[in-house]
Amino acid sequence: MRATDNGVPIDQILCGDNLELIQQLPDRSIQLVITSPPYFQQRNYGSGMGNEKNVNAYIDILLCLFRECVRVLADDGNIVFNIGDKYQNSNLLLVPYRFALAAMDTGGVRLVNEITWVKKNPTPRQFSRRLVSSTEPFFHFAKSDRYFYNPKAFLAKTHAPQPRKKKNGTTVGQKYFQLIDKSDLSDAEKTLARTELTQVIQEAKSGKIHSFRMKIRGIHAAPFGGQEGGRTSQLRNKGFTIIRIHGNKLKRDVIKTDDLIETSDVIETPVATLKGNKHPAIYPVEVVEEFLHLLTPTGAVVLDPFIGSGSTAVACKKLGRHYIGYDINAEYCEDARQRVLQTPGVSQQHLFEI
Ligand SMILES: C[S@@+](CC[C@H](N)C(=O)[O-])C[C@H]1O[C@@H](n2cnc3c(N)ncnc32)[C@H](O)[C@@H]1O
Repeated sequence: MRATDNGVPIDQILCGDNLELIQQLPDRSIQLVITSPPYFQQRNYGSGMGNEKNVNAYIDILLCLFRECVRVLADDGNIVFNIGDKYQNSNLLLVPYRFALAAMDTGGVRLVNEITWVKKNPTPRQFSRRLVSSTEPFFHFAKSDRYFYNPKAFLAKTHAPQPRKKKNGTTVGQKYFQLIDKSDLSDAEKTLARTELTQVIQEAKSGKIHSFRMKIRGIHAAPFGGQEGGRTSQLRNKGFTIIRIHGNKLKRDVIKTDDLIETSDVIETPVATLKGNKHPAIYPVEVVEEFLHLLTPTGAVVLDPFIGSGSTAVACKKLGRHYIGYDINAEYCEDARQRVLQTPGVSQQHLFEI
C-alpha cells in the first residue's frame, strides 16, 4: 500500500463512517479537503449523514466533521465544501450559508471565497411559483493566510488572455482632449495632460496595452477610499491620472459547466464512463480539477470524506495528486475504485513528488 513519509496511506478509497475513519489521519497531513456532503433531506443513501431530523442537527454533524478536517489540514492547506440548498414548507432554508457561518464560528479557518458553480444543465423541473435553481456554492476555507494558491492555473483554458488587437481608429481617446480643454487645469497641467494622453493613445493603437481611462481634476470624481491613494494624489497634484488596462482576464469566482452531469438520476448521462454508475449525485470532475489547479501542487494529498462515485479521486489521478476517499456505502466505494482504475493517470514519478 502506498503511504506518505509520515505513514499516511494514500490513493485509496475506504468504506466506513468518515467521522471514525478521519481519526486515523495525523494532524496537518492533508493539503486539500474537497467534498460534497449529502444535501439535507435530499436523498436516502441508506445510512450516514443527510437525514437528520432538522437543519440544525444536520449542520451540527457536518461541523463535527469540519473540525476534524481542520485538524488534519496542513497549515498552508485549503478546504472546499460544496453544499446544496433545500426547500421546506415552500421556504428556502439557505443551508449552505448556515453551514458557512457556523464553520467560520468554529475558529481556525477563514472563508476565502464563495465560488459559484453555474450549471448550464440544471435539473429540468418546472415550478409554477418559483424559478429553477441552477447554481451551487463551493466555499473555500483556508487554515492560515499562507494557504497554497496558484491562480495562474485556475481556469487557464477558458480564461487565457486574449491576443491584443491593434486599434487603428482615429477616435481612440479623443474625447479626453475635449475634456482637458474644458477643464480648469492650469496651462502647464493641460500641456502635460495632452502629451501623456497622446503617448497612451499610441500605446493603445499599437496593441501594447488593451485600453486606458483618464481622470481629470474637476471633471471626474476622485477615486473613493484609500486603495487608489496614488491616483488621488496625482489628480490633486498633477491635475490628471491615466489608468492603463493590460487586458489580463479577471479570475472570477464563477465556474460554469456546460454539458456535465450533476444528477445522473434526472439527467440522461452524456458521459460514457459513468454509464451504469448507481450514484445519484455526482459532481463534475472538471470542477474538482479547477480546485486542484488552484489550491494544490502536484503530488499533494487530497481528502474527500464523502467520495461517492469517486469524482475527486478521478480528478486527482488525472492531475497527479494523491487521494484519500471515504464513503459509508460499500457499493459506491467499489464502483468508485473501478472508476479510478479505468482513469488514465500521470506517470508514477510525478505522483510521488510529496
Ligand atoms: C453528495 S454524495 C457525494 C458525491 C460525490 N461528490 C461524487 O461526485 O460522486 C455524498 C456521499 O456521502 C456518503 N456518506 C453519507 N454519510 C457518510 C458518512 N458518515 N461517512 C462516509 N460517507 C458518507 C453517501 O453514501 C454519498 O455517497
